[in-house]
Amino acid sequence: MDEQLQKIKQDFLQDLKTVKDNLQLEELEQKFFSRRSGEMTEIMKKLKDLSVDARKKFGKLANEVKKELEDILIEKQIELNNQLVNKIADTEWIDITQPKLPVKDRGHLHPNTIIQNDLEDFFTSMGFLVLDGPELESDYYNFTAVNIPPTHPARDMQDTFYIKDHGPDSDSPWVMRTQTSPMQVRAMQKHGVPIRAIIPGRCFRNEATDVRHEHTFYQLEGIVIDKNINFSHMKGVLEAVAKHLYGNETVVRLRPKFYPFVEPGVNGEVTCFLCKGAGCRVCKNTGWLEIFGAGMVHPNVLREGGVDPEKYQGFAFGFGLTRLVMLKYGIDDIRNLQNGDIRFLKQF
Ligand code: PHE
Repeated sequence: MDEQLQKIKQDFLQDLKTVKDNLQLEELEQKFFSRRSGEMTEIMKKLKDLSVDARKKFGKLANEVKKELEDILIEKQIELNNQLVNKIADTEWIDITQPKLPVKDRGHLHPNTIIQNDLEDFFTSMGFLVLDGPELESDYYNFTAVNIPPTHPARDMQDTFYIKDHGPDSDSPWVMRTQTSPMQVRAMQKHGVPIRAIIPGRCFRNEATDVRHEHTFYQLEGIVIDKNINFSHMKGVLEAVAKHLYGNETVVRLRPKFYPFVEPGVNGEVTCFLCKGAGCRVCKNTGWLEIFGAGMVHPNVLREGGVDPEKYQGFAFGFGLTRLVMLKYGIDDIRNLQNGDIRFLKQF
């Protein structure tokens, strides 16, 4: 045993002399210390077959030799690293006084992203989660779960792109989601109640496109469910958003509007930020800008989300994110936002 240990040590020192770089050092390490077949490892394994006395004696010795060789390995590694650093310092040289190259055409965020980030910050400051949902959605979540059954006329207003034979559940057709509202149900199912969340995201509809209609656009959904939540909480939150977007003097007007997934439902407008309500080109002389839909979440939708409407209630809202972007930047053709024309995007 003693001899074997001495032999290993000699071999090791012999091999070490030929090591010139880190790769070779690694090979050496493998040869002697690899877990499976390293020479030192093998010796250590044999210790357990010795008698108790012999094990005590050689165990100590073996450990000493092992430690010694390991220390040598580390020293060699430091030496090699230093050599490398010195070599680089000798051959490479950086002129820190050289002026930097001019940056041409630096990119920036898309106007849509700018507004979305801003609203995400605003809502998280009020304790909302920011969630994400699928753009390719099941017919069930997009419509049925939010109280729009297959024969409901509300489906007509949201014609979209139907996807054939997608996914395991091919009984339910799949659609490119027409709204972010399906996330109301998904959010309740996943996170339970109480919940406060917003879901910004891309939506799709089968539109004959023109300056105001596009097959692809963005919404920002919101949902708040808890015990004793009422209409005035909803108005409070929506007023806070409106003031955040357009200033403290902004007034919110809620007028009844039917959406199958809320009851009562409202159409939300704010005083025009440009003319302050007097009437101008932006608000088409009405003094008001329509920017969201909202309402108290329908009991059927709560039930789909696994929530008992006798115990919990709340509100939901959906902002036309694309519309907010167009208003903020005075964009008059919605198609510019998606067509990737760099001359358009450079303006923001
Ligand atoms: N999903 C509705 C739409 O696309 C907006 C909305 C969301 C209305 C939530 C009420 C509540 O028009």
